[in-house]
Amino acid sequence: MSAPPDLPEIVTRALRMSLQHGYVMTSRTETGRLLATLAATRGGTMAECGTGCGVGAAWLRTGAPKSTRVLTAELDPELAHGVMEMFAADDIEVMHADWASLAEHAPFSLIFIDADSARHSPREEIVGMLETGGMIVIDDFTPSADWPPMDSGRVDQLRQEWLTDERFTSADVMVATDTSVLVAVKR
Ligand SMILES: C[S@@+](CC[C@H](N)C(=O)[O-])C[C@H]1O[C@@H](n2cnc3c(N)ncnc32)[C@H](O)[C@@H]1O
Repeated sequence: MSAPPDLPEIVTRALRMSLQHGYVMTSRTETGRLLATLAATRGGTMAECGTGCGVGAAWLRTGAPKSTRVLTAELDPELAHGVMEMFAADDIEVMHADWASLAEHAPFSLIFIDADSARHSPREEIVGMLETGGMIVIDDFTPSADWPPMDSGRVDQLRQEWLTDERFTSADVMVATDTSVLVAVKR
C-alpha cells in the first residue's frame, strides 16, 4: 500500500454503515483515494449514481472544495434514508431516487458510477449530464493488459466504448492488482 493508513472520519463512518448492513458493493479504498484526488480539481456539482452506504460520496466530499456540491442518488429506500441521516451535517445531498432523475441538477463536473450500473444505462444519457471539461469515473473493472480490454475471456465493450469515444480523453487506471477505474474527461 502506498497511501497513509488513516482514513477520513466521514469515510470511516460510511464503512461502518456498510459493515452494519452487510453491504458488499462498497467502493474500494484505493478507488476512494483516486476519487478524492479527482474531486479536488472540481467545482460546480458532482453526482454519484448509486450511493450504497455512502463511501464514494464520503470520498468525493473529502476531496472537493467546500463550494462544490455533492449529490448522490440511491434507489434502495433503506440505504438512501440511512445515508441521508448519516450525512445530515456533512454537506452531501442524498436523494432517494433513480439516478436518472439526477439529470434535473445537471450539468455535472464529475459523475461517479460503477461499471455494472453503467453497463445497464444508456451511455448518451450519462454523456448528456456532463459539462464540457467534466469527467466520468467508472469503478469496478477488471484490470486488462490487452487491447481490446478483456474481462472473463470476453471483450469488455463498455470500457472499449469509453476508451475509444473521441469526445473524451480517457484512461483505464489500475488502482489495485485486482481492480481498475476508468476516468474520461469530456473535451
Ligand atoms: C456498486 S453499488 C454503489 C457503491 C457506492 N457508489 C460506493 O461508493 O460505495 C451500486 C448501488 O446502486 C444502487 N442502484 C442500482 N440501480 C440504481 C438506480 N437506477 N438509481 C440509483 N441507484 C441505483 C444499488 O442499490 C446499489 O446500492
